[in-house]
Amino acid sequence: MNTVPEMRPEMRSLLDELGTSIIDIVRDTDDRIALPPGSEAVLAGLSESLPESGSGARQTLDSLLELCEQAGGNTSGPRCFHFVIGGSTPAAHIADLIATAHDAVTYTWVLSPVGVHMELQAIDWLKELFGLPAGWAGVMVTGATMSNFVCLAAARQWWGEQHGVDVSETGLVGLPQMPVLTSGFVHASTLRVLALQGIGRSNVRRFSADEFGRLDVNAYRHALEALDGQPAVVVVNAGEVNGGEFDPVEEMIDIAREHNCWVHVDGAFGLFARISPRTADLAPGVERADSVTVDGHKWLNVPYDTGYAFTRDHALMAKAFRYSADYLPSEDDPHPTPGAIGPESSRRGRSFATWATLKAYGREGQRDIVEHCLDIAQCFAARVGESATLELMNEPRLNIVAFRYNPGGMDDDTLDELNRRLGDAVIADGRFLVGTSKLGGRTVFRPAFSNWRTRDEDVLEFAAVVEELGERLLRQQS
Ligand SMILES: Cc1ncc(COP(=O)(O)O)c(C=O)c1O
Repeated sequence: MNTVPEMRPEMRSLLDELGTSIIDIVRDTDDRIALPPGSEAVLAGLSESLPESGSGARQTLDSLLELCEQAGGNTSGPRCFHFVIGGSTPAAHIADLIATAHDAVTYTWVLSPVGVHMELQAIDWLKELFGLPAGWAGVMVTGATMSNFVCLAAARQWWGEQHGVDVSETGLVGLPQMPVLTSGFVHASTLRVLALQGIGRSNVRRFSADEFGRLDVNAYRHALEALDGQPAVVVVNAGEVNGGEFDPVEEMIDIAREHNCWVHVDGAFGLFARISPRTADLAPGVERADSVTVDGHKWLNVPYDTGYAFTRDHALMAKAFRYSADYLPSEDDPHPTPGAIGPESSRRGRSFATWATLKAYGREGQRDIVEHCLDIAQCFAARVGESATLELMNEPRLNIVAFRYNPGGMDDDTLDELNRRLGDAVIADGRFLVGTSKLGGRTVFRPAFSNWRTRDEDVLEFAAVVEELGERLLRQQS
C-alpha cells in the first residue's frame, strides 16, 4: 500500500484524536513528576532495527505519549532546578506551539515574513530590556553556547582585522595565538567554542584569585599591560554557573578599555540581574562591552532551544558567517536574512515565543519573573539556614543556592562522597530534578531557580526530601 495518499486524512484524524492529549500535557505541567523513577528500565528494551513497514502513526504516537509519561523529564515543571532551566510562560509556550504548527522557517524573510519580523522586533526589545545600545546587532540561536560561538566569532574576526587579516577567508595560518583573558568563572561552553574556532581551550588564560575562581584583578591587569597594545579578547562572566557569582563586570571592562581589547560578556542567565533594581548592581557597564550572550530558555522562560547573541558590529557578524550561493539571498537583498549573521542556515521559528512573551507581559512581567525567582531563592536559603543537617555553601544574591547535606562529625572529603551519592539518590527518587557540582572544591547541590512555576512550597518540600533521603543514606551506611 502506498502510504502517501493516506497521510492527508490521517493528519486530520490524528489531530482530532490526539489534540487534547497535547493540551493536557501543557496543562498538567505542574503535576507531573520531575523525573519518573525507573526510566532506564523502561527504555532498555526499545532499541530495534528500522522497521520495514511501520507500525502506523496512531500506535506510534500513543506509545510515544506513554513513553514520555514513563521516561520524560519534566524540565518545564516547578520542581526542576537542574542546570539553569526556565519554564515557559503561557504566551511563550503557546506561541511556540503555533510556530511548530506552521513549521515556521526563519532563515530569510521570504520563508516567513512574520517570523523574521518578530525576530527583529524581539531583538530590539531585548536590547531595551537589558539596557544594551539600540545600534547593536543581534541574532537568535539555540542557546548560550551558540551565542558564545557567534560573539566569539565576531571577536575573532575583529582580532584578525587588527592584524590585517580576514580570518573567515584565509584562516588563522601565520597569525599569532589570539590572547583570551578571563577569570576562573569562565563557562565550559566558552572553552568549547574557542576549541572549535581554532583558538584552543588551553590557550585561555584564567586569572583566579582563589579556589572559587574569582578574578585576580592585578594579574589580569598586568597580563593586559604585558600585551603592550597587541589585540586581545576579554571574556567577562556575568553569572557563574555553580554559585551565581559575578566577575567585577564594570572594573574588568574599564581595565580592558585601557587596552586594545574586544570585550565579551557571557550573561547567559546573569544578565537578567540587570532588569531588577534589587540586583542590577551585579552587572553594571555591560553596555560598554562589544558582545553579549544571553539565554532565552533560562530566565526569559521561553521554550528550548533559544538564546540571543548581541554584538556592536553587524558587519563583523556578516563577515564571520558569510554564506553565499546563487540560490540564496544576496548581501544587498532589501529584505532581512537573520540566517546570514549566525551559524545556522535553516532555523526554526524561535522568534514566535520570544516575541509573544515580551509582548504579552512587557518589561514589568519580566521583572516580576526575575523577582519571583529571587524570592524563591531566598525562601530556600532561609530553609537551609534553619535546617540541622543542611549547610549553605554560598551567599545567594541571584537564583542559585549552593548547599550540602552535613549531618555533622564528618570531614570535607567524606561529605563530598556523601553528597555525591545523595545527588544520585535524589535523581533516582525523581520528585526533584537537581544537580550537584563543585564549588570551591567541595561537592554541593546547586539548585537554580529560574521558572515562574516554582512556588515556596516546592522548595520547602525539596529541602525536606534532601533531608529525608540523606537520613536514609546514612541509615543504609551504618
Ligand atoms: C554562563 C553560561 N554560559 C553558557 C551556558 C550554556 O548555555 P546553553 O546550554 O543554553 O548552551 C550556560 C549554561 O548554563 C551558562 O550558565
